[in-house]
Amino acid sequence: MKKLISLTVNGKSYQIATEPNQTLADLLRYELGLFGTKKGCEMGDCGSCTVIMDGKPVNSCLVLAMQANRRSITTIEGLESEKGLHPLQQAFAEKGAIQCGFCSSGMILSAKHLLDKNPKPNEAEIRSAISGNLCRCTGYQKIVEAVKGVRG
Ligand code: FES
Ligand code: FES
Repeated sequence: MKKLISLTVNGKSYQIATEPNQTLADLLRYELGLFGTKKGCEMGDCGSCTVIMDGKPVNSCLVLAMQANRRSITTIEGLESEKGLHPLQQAFAEKGAIQCGFCSSGMILSAKHLLDKNPKPNEAEIRSAISGNLCRCTGYQKIVEAVKGVRG
C-alpha cells in the first residue's frame, strides 16, 4: 500500500505517495524526473546512484524512498545555480574527467561531500572519497586532477 512521504530535493519540498519497495533512486528518476541520478548495478557496488542525504553521500539504490521521509536530498541537478555550473562540474568538463558520463553524477557528489567537509584534501583523501564510485572510462587520474583543481 502506498504511503505519503515528505522530502526536500534540491531545496524544493515534495509530498509523494510511494510504494514500500520503491527505492530512492527510482523515486528521484521516475516520480521527479531527475534522471541525472544513474542506476548501474542497483546493488550498492558502483556508486553511480550516489546522492547526498542530510549531508552524507548514500547509494540511492539501497535507500528505500520511505527512508527519505523528512530528509533533505541533493542530486546532481541541485548543483547548478543561476551563476552556472558548480565548479566541480566545470572542472570535470574542462579536465576531461567525463567520458561516457555514467559515473559522473555520483563521482561529483562524492567529491562535493569531501570538499564541503575538507576544502583542501590531499590526493589520498580525494581517492578515498571517490573509492565507492566506479569509472570504467577515465582511469580516475583526470577525475582526481579535476577535484584537485577545485580544492581551496
Ligand atoms: Fe547504486 Fe550501483 S546503482 S551502487
Ligand atoms: Fe564512463 Fe566514468 S566516464 S564510467
